[in-house]
Amino acid sequence: MKRHVIGNVHWVGKIDWELKKFHGSEYSTHKGSSYNSYLVREEKTALIDTVWLPFAKEFVDNLEAEVGLANIDFMVQNHAEIDHSGALPELLRRRPGLPIYCTANALKSLKGHYHQDWDFRVVKTGDSVELGNGKKLVFVEAPMLHWPDSMFTYLAGGATLFPNDAFGQHYASELLFNDLVDQDELWDECVKYYANILTPFSPLVAKKIQEVVGMKLPVEVIAPSHGVIWRKDPLQIVGKYAEWAADYREDRVTVFYDSMWDGTRKLAEAIVQGVTEASPGTRVVAHNVAKTDKNDVITDIFRSKAVLAGSPTVNKGILSAMAGIMEEIEGLRFKGKKAAAFGCYGWSGESPAVLSKRLGAAGFEVVDEGFKSLWAPDAAALDAARAYGREFAGKISG
Ligand code: FEO
Repeated sequence: MKRHVIGNVHWVGKIDWELKKFHGSEYSTHKGSSYNSYLVREEKTALIDTVWLPFAKEFVDNLEAEVGLANIDFMVQNHAEIDHSGALPELLRRRPGLPIYCTANALKSLKGHYHQDWDFRVVKTGDSVELGNGKKLVFVEAPMLHWPDSMFTYLAGGATLFPNDAFGQHYASELLFNDLVDQDELWDECVKYYANILTPFSPLVAKKIQEVVGMKLPVEVIAPSHGVIWRKDPLQIVGKYAEWAADYREDRVTVFYDSMWDGTRKLAEAIVQGVTEASPGTRVVAHNVAKTDKNDVITDIFRSKAVLAGSPTVNKGILSAMAGIMEEIEGLRFKGKKAAAFGCYGWSGESPAVLSKRLGAAGFEVVDEGFKSLWAPDAAALDAARAYGREFAGKISG
């Protein structure tokens, strides 16, 4: 259903309440999501982005019923990923010849995905398309936010920015606007989205924000491609992105571990106690990664100034759940965070060294050689783990 956003801009996307996993099974979407598509109707009518493939027919049927496909003059594909381009084949089948404005990299991606020679119009930063009534769409390339093809589109004369994935959240709501939804839920989803998707590109995020803010464009609405639209103090999310892009950390420590017979769990709990004893103001959280949503763990790591990674030694290595999350963490390339490792063992005891090496490779500053404990920890071992936690708190303070 078409929903009014501002001026002659309408939302024509799809709210997906059922979505629980995104990017295959890589990203949990506890609160669903939406695929936001926008229609700008001036003398010319432009469609900005589409929806994911399963909703293609519903999307195009709605456009036909509410707008008339023949009345759409052209479309802008800000980003080629399937959740935004998935309805193109259905749309182009029913509205052949529709011009598609996109970046050179989006052209490669769209051809790679759909193998069609549609009427692509390649644009770069500063290019624009007139809409009439004194308005135009101006394009700003935003490579690696978060794909090489990503682009922002700005409605000049309408003070609206369409940044696609940037500033979005996986958050289903009929309320559509940022000021109408539960603020805690909204910000939880925003930071999770940044932590899990945009962290590797933080230097580019910072640069792009400077560039766009430097243009001094009037912005009344920021209309991303997922979640709610920012209309109340829309630049607040831009300010948050600037903070998050600057090696973000709170006074928070995340302990993440896996355990085979509870020995490493007990060490984790004792270390949490030790850090808390030494630094009561620090928020310390612990996650068994085999039992916790990995995106929630990564969000806590993103918010932390330091982390402790734990695993028992198994086959001279670490447990597979820890290996999995370490792979993710290496790809996310966190900066400005301290770390150490721990674990219990029965024979050789390599796990803290293995974890420390991987933490170092992932960009963490490893502050010591870690803590290990032979066999199941007894009272003395747990005292030692608590003392280690207190020492660790000292090494990460300031
Ligand atoms: Fe929401 Fe990168 O697609």
